[in-house]
Amino acid sequence: MRKLIIAGNWKMNKDAAQTLEFCNALSEVADKLHDTDVIVIAAPAYPFLHIAQTALKNSGIALSAQDVSAQTDGAYTGEVSATMLRSLNLGYCIVGHSERRQYHGETDALIRLKVLRLLDCGIKPILCVGETLEQRKSGATETVLATQLDGCLQDVPLTTGDELVIAYEPVWAIGTGRTATSEQAQSAHAFVRQHLAGLFGEAVANRIYILYGGSMKPENIAELIAQNDIDGGLIGGASLKIGDFSAMISSAIAKMNSR
Ligand code: PGA
Repeated sequence: MRKLIIAGNWKMNKDAAQTLEFCNALSEVADKLHDTDVIVIAAPAYPFLHIAQTALKNSGIALSAQDVSAQTDGAYTGEVSATMLRSLNLGYCIVGHSERRQYHGETDALIRLKVLRLLDCGIKPILCVGETLEQRKSGATETVLATQLDGCLQDVPLTTGDELVIAYEPVWAIGTGRTATSEQAQSAHAFVRQHLAGLFGEAVANRIYILYGGSMKPENIAELIAQNDIDGGLIGGASLKIGDFSAMISSAIAKMNSR
């Protein structure tokens, strides 16, 4: 049975002091996670992973990086390898975010290498996929999702499905205040799961978490996570304020307690 994941993607926000302050507040919120089936993940900027890790020690809150190099090591100025992330004992790492695809020209083939590097190091990739508004309007959503999943996951070895998290993030909903309706999101998630079943078999696909991302906030989270194939959220803007993030964690706990 899948749990729920509430992941905060802080993007290029929060400096050292702000990261520390937020993580201290978050570790207090973590008390309510005891004996629940809710996993909380925070993804601060690279330089502050260690600060966050120290502040969240023993809180049960997991940490994620926001990206990783497709290379293993060597002369790649500015890059951070999966082995380096492993040396911090990181649990997760976001890859293929639409902002990286858009501003850094990341392709599915490159993202696939990142997925492989992470899996080699025992770090769970949070692989982002999603269509643009134009693609949705032209009826290409499922073709786009299938192409991204095929390109990023081709011949990727999965054993149970627990090693991978997918985030369905419609590009038109990211940071726009415009959220997919719960029907739109559920339909995309069901398609993603069905496609994963084609790639890895049904048993593995049923264990892969599929998060929704795109203007998720306290006001709409309950409706979204009520859907069968939505296993939580990858949250940007609304994860930056402790009050909103904490409210979303509470919604996830309420949903799991009502099962
Ligand atoms: P948003 O970002 O919640 O601000 O829309 C989500 C994401 O990009 O992961």
